[in-house]
Amino acid sequence: KTFDVAVVGATGAVGEAMLSILAERKFPVGEVYALASERSAGGRVAFGNRQLKVENLADFDFSKVQIGLFSAGASVSAEYAPKAAAAGCVVIDNTSQFRYDDDIPLVVPEVNPDALDGFELRNIIANPNCSTIQMVVALKPLDDAAHIERINVATYQAVSGTGKPGIEELAQQTVRLLNGQDIQPPSAYPKQIAFNALPHIDVFQDNGYTKEEMKMVWETQKIMGRADIRVNPTAVRIPVFYGHSEAVHLELREPLSALDARELLARAPGVVVLDEHADGGYPTAVTEGVNNDAVYVGRIREDISHPTGLNLWIVSDNVRKGAALNSIQIAETLVARGL
Ligand code: A2P
Repeated sequence: KTFDVAVVGATGAVGEAMLSILAERKFPVGEVYALASERSAGGRVAFGNRQLKVENLADFDFSKVQIGLFSAGASVSAEYAPKAAAAGCVVIDNTSQFRYDDDIPLVVPEVNPDALDGFELRNIIANPNCSTIQMVVALKPLDDAAHIERINVATYQAVSGTGKPGIEELAQQTVRLLNGQDIQPPSAYPKQIAFNALPHIDVFQDNGYTKEEMKMVWETQKIMGRADIRVNPTAVRIPVFYGHSEAVHLELREPLSALDARELLARAPGVVVLDEHADGGYPTAVTEGVNNDAVYVGRIREDISHPTGLNLWIVSDNVRKGAALNSIQIAETLVARGL
């Protein structure tokens, strides 16, 4: 049995990764349709060693496909995901549009695959935010063993999370500044991103946190099935192209030694421990966070200031595990469960 798939946002950073991951994994794809806006209709995108013609989303008939992978922004999903779902297509949506609806599963296959039960109610499954996905993959085994009460997290997030405009802005500013030229007025970010760190991702909320930070609160609680877990995030954009890093400081109910945590993580699905207490013995965005599927964990150590505290450094490819790969793993899980 094969599945016909539409990739919505196929010309974007995540859409391109979806197409290459679909081609490289053994997902049973039939026809693949590359959809984007009218602007890029008629162009071409790579699918493995083939080229696909880009079609206009607005003209597409979703009854031709069984799976739709959406990554073209929340407003596009708001309009087209319900139409696709009504046409019988299962939508896996990478935007924040439906994530907080009670009847929409929000799924990281290593953490909460059973949340897929009942997805047929809406025919839409939400893919979580990139910074939340890599964090919960690493925290799930620790929560099972020692019950996480509180998560303090600071993120160091790559510009590819903003899509192609973020990647282009960092590249252009870097080139200009290294050539002694002034930069153009920033457009993807409110301040210069090259050689800088911006404590601002997504829009500000009434409580003074940003929406990216609140996503980490809401989504961690929903995915871990722990409405009581306390999350205190600071989300920061840094001048890295690919790969998000996170400094995570946990407060547990039971003490957990760094040694035990390392063993639990070494056995956890989707996790690779790289923790050598030596020069370079830890994961970084450029070395592990690009074109790799795993969530990498290092710097595992007991908090010297707290009796049940534990610290971690978590790195993963935000475009793959944080978006495209997780969406395709959701599709694979659906197929394994008999879609
Ligand atoms: P397009 O290239 O035609 O604008 P990124 O986040 O990397 O910028 O990618 C966004 C993706 O979403 C692109 O593929 C973009 O297509 C697509 N997209 C944006 N707006 C729309 C729209 N209104 N209809 C269809 N696709 C859209």
